[in-house]
Amino acid sequence: MFVINCKNYEEISGDKIIKFVKTAEKISKKYKIKIAIAPPQHLIGLVAKSTIPIFAQHIDDSKIGSTTGFVIPELLKMSKVKGSLINHSEHRISSKEIEKLISKLKELKMTSVLCVKDIAEVKKYVKLNPDYIAIEPPELIGSGKAVSKEKPGLISKAAEAVKNAKNNTELLCGAGIVSGEDVSKAIELGSKGILVASGIVKSKNWDSIMSEFAKSMV
Ligand code: G3P
Repeated sequence: MFVINCKNYEEISGDKIIKFVKTAEKISKKYKIKIAIAPPQHLIGLVAKSTIPIFAQHIDDSKIGSTTGFVIPELLKMSKVKGSLINHSEHRISSKEIEKLISKLKELKMTSVLCVKDIAEVKKYVKLNPDYIAIEPPELIGSGKAVSKEKPGLISKAAEAVKNAKNNTELLCGAGIVSGEDVSKAIELGSKGILVASGIVKSKNWDSIMSEFAKSMV
């Protein structure tokens, strides 16, 4: 599985997100790899009915109805959105909110991808049994220096912590991943997939970089 977080990059602004998602659909089918995409929040509706899972980048612990500007999981579900990132490094929330949102996504049968910054957080939050825990050292995000090469021990320790929890949570890792080699190294170290942004979104050739990543996962 790889999750592409589009953040708010200009490269996928407006209708460009449609071409981006179509490319991912093609690559996912060709290599039989699960690819999920988290578009900018305001563009989700444009691509939510794709053949690959579309995730939100952030959700709020807020109710249906008079909650102006909040992003409500129940309404995302009604728009066919399949899950959400929670607690991304660029949009951290409290542990109380994390707990409530994981449980809300479970009730709704939506996928939770909980982002954490270190092993202590892996150990703390794996107990909540999110579908995925994505470990991303903040200092490597957007750096082009892959977590799998710069901090291999972090991935293997995180994989062990997730395994020791003996639940259904799977490990993803991210930050600075830009090549197929970075991806295969992450998988070798025990990650089940990756969370990536700039390495794919900012690439001049989406088809070729997504293919490179996908081939490194099969
Ligand atoms: O959510 C993924 C992200 O934080 C990693 O960013 O640009 O280093 O792949 P990037």
